[in-house]
Formats: sequence, structure tokens, C-alpha cells
Amino acid sequence: MKKYKVGVIGATGMVGQRFVSLLKNHPWFQLSVVAASSRSAGRTYEESVAGRWQMPNPIPDEACKLVVYDAQTDIDQIAQCVDFVFSAVDMKKEEIKALELKYAQAECPVISNNSAHRWTPDVPMVIPEVNPEHTEIIDFQRKRLGTKRGFIAVKSNCSIQSYIPALHPLKDTFGLTHALVCTYQAISGAGKNFDTWPEMIDNVMPLISGEEEKTEQEPLKIWGTITGTQIVPAVSLSITSQCIRVPVTDGHLAAVFMAFNEKPATHDIKKIWQEFKGRPQILKLPSAPNQFLNYFEDSDRPQTKLDRMLEDGMAISLGRLRPDNQYDYRFIGLSHNTLRGAAGGAVLLAELLCADGFI
Ligand SMILES: NC(=O)c1ccc[n+]([C@@H]2O[C@H](COP(=O)([O-])OP(=O)(O)OC[C@H]3O[C@@H](n4cnc5c(N)ncnc54)[C@H](OP(=O)(O)O)[C@@H]3O)[C@@H](O)[C@H]2O)c1
Repeated sequence: MKKYKVGVIGATGMVGQRFVSLLKNHPWFQLSVVAASSRSAGRTYEESVAGRWQMPNPIPDEACKLVVYDAQTDIDQIAQCVDFVFSAVDMKKEEIKALELKYAQAECPVISNNSAHRWTPDVPMVIPEVNPEHTEIIDFQRKRLGTKRGFIAVKSNCSIQSYIPALHPLKDTFGLTHALVCTYQAISGAGKNFDTWPEMIDNVMPLISGEEEKTEQEPLKIWGTITGTQIVPAVSLSITSQCIRVPVTDGHLAAVFMAFNEKPATHDIKKIWQEFKGRPQILKLPSAPNQFLNYFEDSDRPQTKLDRMLEDGMAISLGRLRPDNQYDYRFIGLSHNTLRGAAGGAVLLAELLCADGFI
């Protein structure tokens, strides 16, 4: 099979390095272009990440000798070399918005890890197992942009991936009305480790700026409907949250309370979770976990350290489902924030877009 040629813009950063690592030996995608700021441009990838490579495995051979492009000034050259790009740049929100738009208008599809376009009404924000049908909005987006190939698609915030997948298959069947969520989020979500953020050792931070708004609002777009030329967020339910930073390296855990119009039985919920398959499982996409929702009967699971790497960090771990005395049920969810929640989720989205003919 001919591989898709892929670029990573922001390839030298923490998320960009994760993309470069995940693309090693990918069966469909060939890393062909790496781009970053003018500070890195013109050097080889190996030179530009020297002393700041943070992945557990060495730099992939195919990336080492690639010469880094300037993500802002080399757009046309990059667009001509690749079938699409992953975006992982860190700039001001309005600058990222404008940059991603320029790539799309240069007929280069953009799969973005950034939040800049999450609320653009005709940009799909996709968890591939949850709302793959939102990719259909791309036809309208292309009309607005005047492009044939170019478009922007984004993944959602990492915080919501620990519990939205579990709520999703219950939502319509039993009429989900309310959810209360407390997230316990890893320091890698801030691009840090214990060397770069020693204040987090033996500590808990009560605020992650902007995270509660994303945690409460993004699910409503994901569960929204395509109406005319935009995605209109769902209004039939509400979510409230507190997002806490905890001293773990990777893995976001969520304590979730949920209320329904019709209270299901515990065994019905577990059966639905066990049997749920999303479009990535049906299509057998290369990065899709075989079993998306994994329920642990042991009452001390899921644990961040033990379970975050389930199915290469792409599966969701669930446990401690039990009745609640204010809501109908409560449970614990866990996902890997930089794999499922960031670069891995974006690679899976790109696979879906290729399989469905959008790229
Ligand atoms: N870290 C996470 O876990 C995480 C999770 C979810 C979302 N995000 C989001 O993902 C994005 C990247 O995060 P990160 O942690 O990977 O950041 P990072 O480590 O600081 O890397 C930033 C990347 O953007 C490039 N860049 C910076 N300014 C640029 C400019 N003016 N023009 C072109 N490229 C520029 C950098 O290139 P140089 O190396 O040349 O400076 C680098 O490749 C951010 O928007 C962040 O909010 C991060």
C-alpha cells in the first residue's frame, strides 16, 4: 500500500515529539516533513531536538536527518510535499488559528492537537469512537474556505477522554441529564515532568487554568448535531467539574457522577460498556484499541500507573461503578493524556479521515 506523506508542524516540542514517535513504522503514514519555529529551521531534526528529546524511545531513524522547515514561512513548500499535517505548535491562540487556516487554504488538511479551532462552528472536534459522523461537516467547511482538499479537523481536550467515552453509549439509551466530574490530571498535560516542575512533587494544585470550562463545554459540541452548515452543541444535558493537578507523570483520572431520566441496572451499564464498538473498531483502524472501554471488577482499579498504557495508551479504563445517594451512579475513568488524549487521538482521527475518504 502506498503510504500517505505526513508533516508535523511543531515537531520539536513535547507533543510534536510524540507525533514523530507514533509515526515510526506506521502502516499507513510516512513522516516526510518536520517544521517548527525559525529558531529550529534549517537544522536537522536530530540537531534541533538535541538535549530536549523527552520520549522514552530514541529519535526514529527516519526523522533524524530530516531538515526542519519553518512552519510559518514555508507553508506552500510543505503543502506540496505532504498529504496532510498534524499541528502541535505552541503560539498565541489567534496566531495558531491563522496558521492552521493558511495550511488548509494551501490545500493541506490539518489535524490539530490545539484548541484554537475547537469552537469554529464548521470544524469537527472528534473523538473517533464517539462522533465520527461530524467529519461530514468538512464538505461545508471546504465550501467556506474555497478549497478542494484543505480543511481543519481537531481533537478534543485531554481531560474529557477519561469519561465521555463511558457516558456516550449510555447517553441516549437512558437519557443522561447531569454529570459531575472531578479530574485528577498528570503533569505531562502541562508539558512538564518532575525535573521541570519540582513544585509538583508531594503536592496537589487546585487550579488548571481554563480546564474546567473545556471539561464542561467540549462534550456538548461533541454530542452536538450538524444543522445547516455548522455543528450545534447539545443542550439536553449539563456537566459540572473541578480539575485538579496531581503528582503523576502521565494519565488523567476522573471521578464521575451521572444522572439519567431512566435509571439503568448496573449489569446493563457494564454490558453496554463491554459491547460498545466505535467506528475505529469496526474499520479496524491501525491505532484503534480492540476493546475501547475496559471495566475492571477489582475495587482498587483502574490505577493510573498500572492501567494508563492499556492497549498502547489508546483504551479507556473504568471501574468502581456503584449507585450514588445523590446521582444515579458513580464510577472512575482513566485515559492516557498524551496518547489517547493528545497525539494518539489525533493519529486515530487522521486514520478515520483517510478511511472515510476525506484525505
Ligand atoms: N504538552 C501536552 O501534553 C499538551 C496536551 C494537549 C495540548 N497541548 C497543546 O499542544 C501545543 C504544543 O504543546 P507542547 O507542550 O508540545 O509545546 P512545546 O513543547 O513548547 O513545543 C512547541 C512547538 O511549537 C513550535 N513553535 C513555537 N513557536 C513557534 C512559532 N512562532 N512558529 C512556529 N513554530 C513555533 C516550537 O518550535 P521550536 O522548538 O523551534 O521553538 C515547538 O516545535 C500547545 O498548543 C499546547 O497547548 C499540549
